[in-house]
Amino acid sequence: MSYSKLDFNDKTILITGGAGFIGSNLAFYFQKNYPNSLIVIFDCFRNEELLMNGNLKSFGHYKNIIGFNGVVICGNINNKSDLSLLSNYKFDYIFHHAAISDTRVYDQEIIMKTNVNAFYDILEISKINKSVMVYASSAATYGSLPSPQTVGRENPENPYGYSKYLMDKAANLYSRKNPGLKIIGLRFFNVYGPKEYFKAKTSSMVIQLGHQILDGKSPRLFENSMQISRDFIYIEDVIQANIKACTSQQNGTFNVGTGISRNFQEIVDILQKELGTNLVTDYFPNPHEDYQTHTQAEILSSKKYLNFEPMFSLELGIKTYIPEIRRLHGQGIS
Ligand SMILES: NC(=O)c1ccc[n+]([C@@H]2O[C@H](COP(=O)([O-])OP(=O)(O)OC[C@H]3O[C@@H](n4cnc5c(N)ncnc54)[C@H](O)[C@@H]3O)[C@@H](O)[C@H]2O)c1
Repeated sequence: MSYSKLDFNDKTILITGGAGFIGSNLAFYFQKNYPNSLIVIFDCFRNEELLMNGNLKSFGHYKNIIGFNGVVICGNINNKSDLSLLSNYKFDYIFHHAAISDTRVYDQEIIMKTNVNAFYDILEISKINKSVMVYASSAATYGSLPSPQTVGRENPENPYGYSKYLMDKAANLYSRKNPGLKIIGLRFFNVYGPKEYFKAKTSSMVIQLGHQILDGKSPRLFENSMQISRDFIYIEDVIQANIKACTSQQNGTFNVGTGISRNFQEIVDILQKELGTNLVTDYFPNPHEDYQTHTQAEILSSKKYLNFEPMFSLELGIKTYIPEIRRLHGQGIS
């Protein structure tokens, strides 16, 4: 499905983080709908390096982009000589998704360098190319502020959220200094859907709980999960937002959520209905102190300026995702 009247055929499109969850879905969106576009994926791919929290440092995986026919460049956004490989192209559009996406990384230096410093370099590439720049911000910029989370009221409470908050500030400054440039930040809420599997423990609870249920195990949730809710958004709607961002008449940061908050028990209930099971939930204490208990995106300005209209309820998103959850069940992530 095409989300915009913009014709991306004959355009050159850079997707940083294109071997990751959102970036790879975006790459295939362009490949399918605009076969004459030139799509360049730039991603460091995963290596075996682990961060202090035991998770992989990056989650880009070749299996996410099998069947992709564009250009794939393995490079690190923190490395200027890697970035110089991009000077062979003139980009019309840049979608900047490469990041330390793990919200529970507390090594501040690596987060700031990867998410913030490198963003300045990517902004510079967009300036040289006069490309439209769409980049990934995050609902983590809001910390535990009460819902609805609204652009202009931020309170990051971990290094990841702070890094995305700094990216938004940098984009704002850059927009003001370069009024001819189009720079749009998208604050994704909790995204779920195909191609997230290689994010392992940082993938959404939809696939993690789906696989627990398919294992025949009790789905595991934090105590009081009926009171813990999130704005869960299906990947298709996130792709829609990325595409529509290109036509925004106004630079700025926009929330990308459904505008509706759902609790974790509801995910389990929908999954069990779809998978035909009736397992009893196993509740355990929440070990995290900095834990958002409620998110719900304010999406009025996203609707107004991006023409963004989320189309997937949690029920429809999970139903659409079920065949992929089944397909991946039992597969390793190596
Ligand atoms: N998925 C979500 O729920 C969500 C929510 C809010 C914001 N975001 C943001 O959206 C973007 C995409 O997220 P995602 O879920 O697809 O995560 P992801 O981890 O699957 O994708 C990020 C990609 O960036 C690559 N990468 C990491 N460090 C790099 C580096 N130094 N150089 C080059 N490539 C590098 C990784 O290999 C990976 O392929 C990220 O910026 C993330 O912070 C995601």
